[in-house]
Amino acid sequence: MKTDKGFVEEEIPAGLDLKAEIKRLKEEKNAVVLAHYYTVGDIQDAADFVGDSLALAQIAEKLDNPVIVMCGVHFMGETVKILCPDRKVLVPDLNAGCSLADSCPARDLERFIAEHPGHTVISYVNTSADVKALTDIVVTSGNALKIVGSLPEDEKIIFGPDRNLGNYINSQTGRRMVLWDGACHVHEKFSLDGIVRLKKEHPEAKVLVHPECPAPVRLLADKVGSTAVLLKWAAESGHKEFIVATESGILHEMKRLCPDKTFIPAPPEDTACGCNDCSYMKLNTLAKLYLTLKYELPEVTVDPAVIDRARRPIERMLEMSK
Ligand code: 13P
Ligand code: SF4
Repeated sequence: MKTDKGFVEEEIPAGLDLKAEIKRLKEEKNAVVLAHYYTVGDIQDAADFVGDSLALAQIAEKLDNPVIVMCGVHFMGETVKILCPDRKVLVPDLNAGCSLADSCPARDLERFIAEHPGHTVISYVNTSADVKALTDIVVTSGNALKIVGSLPEDEKIIFGPDRNLGNYINSQTGRRMVLWDGACHVHEKFSLDGIVRLKKEHPEAKVLVHPECPAPVRLLADKVGSTAVLLKWAAESGHKEFIVATESGILHEMKRLCPDKTFIPAPPEDTACGCNDCSYMKLNTLAKLYLTLKYELPEVTVDPAVIDRARRPIERMLEMSK
């Protein structure tokens, strides 16, 4: 068994029933598995809870299991560790980063904050623990509008790191938040022409768009929202066909919830591929989840001093989302 690469490496015996082994190990260790909607279907099926960033943070806060496995990306593991510092928090692959979180190094944000004195710092949850420690309120795409909208209209705000989500909130609330210039490599690369073409082929289809997408793509939307909002809207609407402009993992839960409806992934600009995957989310595999539970590795660690500072803005978010 080796872990030098950021995940456990071990040959898995041919024919081993990974799903059954994962279930057995979860019971044996009283471990719980959380998964984001962007992970592959097998991981979502093996998880105890599947959700968007907000739901996963809300669930993590209430858990009492000694071992928590977060199948998502590294910042999600850090968020769980910050909320549950006395528990062992594991991720199947420490290499599961996030281009959006990487676009905002803590040292650069610190300088940006110094250049804008008197501003409240609001950070999207897609940030490192070090960035959260510099933040006044954390938000997710599921609660950002509500939280920003609840602040006094003249409050000066820095919002980061997603310029598209920030721009969307400004457009909806009339605020003029100062935006960090970051973006997600998945949500930035949907093809406008591709969505228009799909719309011509499926004139009845409604277009669902995540707010991390740029404004021109959002203009094509029938509904803009976080993954959980898009899911709910698709399930509750009378429409039968949807073009989905967010990471393609969400289609697994959409099809499970609405087996009688059709979900078409919006294509990325690179037309070689029909749908848009987050390569980091897809590093979560059943084999890695099995080995993570077996060896309780790799573990997410966060400096206790950072936990102390990063916890408050996450708790503020959870309080303000009630
Ligand atoms: P939500 O889970 O808030 O919809 O965020 C999407 C995302 O990009 C997570 O990495
Ligand atoms: Fe980060 Fe984008 Fe992947 Fe979400 S989809 S984890 S924002 S890179």
